[in-house]
Amino acid sequence: MIDRKRAIAILRKNDRGGYTMPTDGLYPFQWSWDSAITALGWLQVDEARAWDEAHTMFRGQWPNGMLPHILFHKDAESYFPGPDVWGSREAIPSSAISQPPVWATAIRFLYERSIDRKAADRALRQLLPGLIAYHRWWYRERDPEGNGLVSSYHPWESGMDNSPAWDKPLGNVPAIDWSYQRRDLSHVESEQRPKKQEYDRYLYLVDFYKQQNFDSKKIYRESPYKVIDVGIVAILHRATADLLALCAQASLDEDSAFLESAMAHTEDAIGTLWSDQASCFFSVDQLTGLPLDVVTTGTVLPLFARLANTGQAGAMARLIEGWLDASGFGLASTHPDSPLFEPQRYWRGPVWLHINWMIADGLAHYGEGVLSERLKQASQRCIDIGGFWEYFDADTGAGCGGDDFSWTAAIAMHWLDG
Ligand code: DGY
Repeated sequence: MIDRKRAIAILRKNDRGGYTMPTDGLYPFQWSWDSAITALGWLQVDEARAWDEAHTMFRGQWPNGMLPHILFHKDAESYFPGPDVWGSREAIPSSAISQPPVWATAIRFLYERSIDRKAADRALRQLLPGLIAYHRWWYRERDPEGNGLVSSYHPWESGMDNSPAWDKPLGNVPAIDWSYQRRDLSHVESEQRPKKQEYDRYLYLVDFYKQQNFDSKKIYRESPYKVIDVGIVAILHRATADLLALCAQASLDEDSAFLESAMAHTEDAIGTLWSDQASCFFSVDQLTGLPLDVVTTGTVLPLFARLANTGQAGAMARLIEGWLDASGFGLASTHPDSPLFEPQRYWRGPVWLHINWMIADGLAHYGEGVLSERLKQASQRCIDIGGFWEYFDADTGAGCGGDDFSWTAAIAMHWLDG
């Protein structure tokens, strides 16, 4: 059980009219994957408001199909870097990278669970062209050679910004030589946030895209950071399957052959990321060709995508059992046995509820219902101890990062209490 009244109050408090900011101060704009997960919470409370979340996001879609990771609808001094640093030129100012493409999955839930069928049909018809363009953008711009595994150009694109999986490729990015003032540290303890050495490189990449005039071909060729992020590959694959289901519902099949063929390429290629020794899938640094061999929650997301074969799924389930033995508050974002594990620092160990939901969903699909339920109970403990925080200390379950966090309230309603 969760405190549903409180969860609803958080969504209402963070509602900025058509979009929900993740939390006040720290994240005052619309973040793409936060917004998609938050729509699942709105669905429990107000269907029309849930659809609005998606409509507002797609209004910020770039002409080439990209859905930016941040839409800066209104000015706010409490966040850095803002649209000026990104060099945004769109009508709705935005960042120049994307985020894990979970929208089609969220919209499928919205469509299939909406009670107002007419409104759902109308919303789906409006959203489908943008959704299809977004998925085409991923496959076209981020896998131009058709290898089946899309590239990511920034740790922020992974949504798992500070994961130790990105340490090596980010370490090869030059640091910027200009000074700046971070705003995140006025909202959250520095022990729970990325370090300056990482920010210096995050910002170098932001500058780099601007200098390349956002030219996708040049960036693909020359980006100093290019990673096959297994988390993005998996979330995209699952979402494409959901998109195909939505196209079928709407009898819109013009793009189905393209989407099916993109999925088939990924299914053929995913095995190259598998590690027998670690029992999970590793991301790859495309500039060195080396696997990024840190066991993080991203490495088991192919369960969510149904991309694992039976043997791989069983091996990942056994890995997850041990992972849960090591920390009883849901799956820590980095395995506690890793020397890089830090229980409180952003994506280097703490627990995120929406990722636990994805993994629990995957486990249930592969017949691991008992383990899926154990993961759910362990995740519930975070809410019992901490409330609706951005993430939770993997050792104690205490809340970390931003408080009154939209996606935590939303996924708690959708999954723990749905
Ligand atoms: C941040 O600023 O920490 C965000 O995660 C970037 O998207």
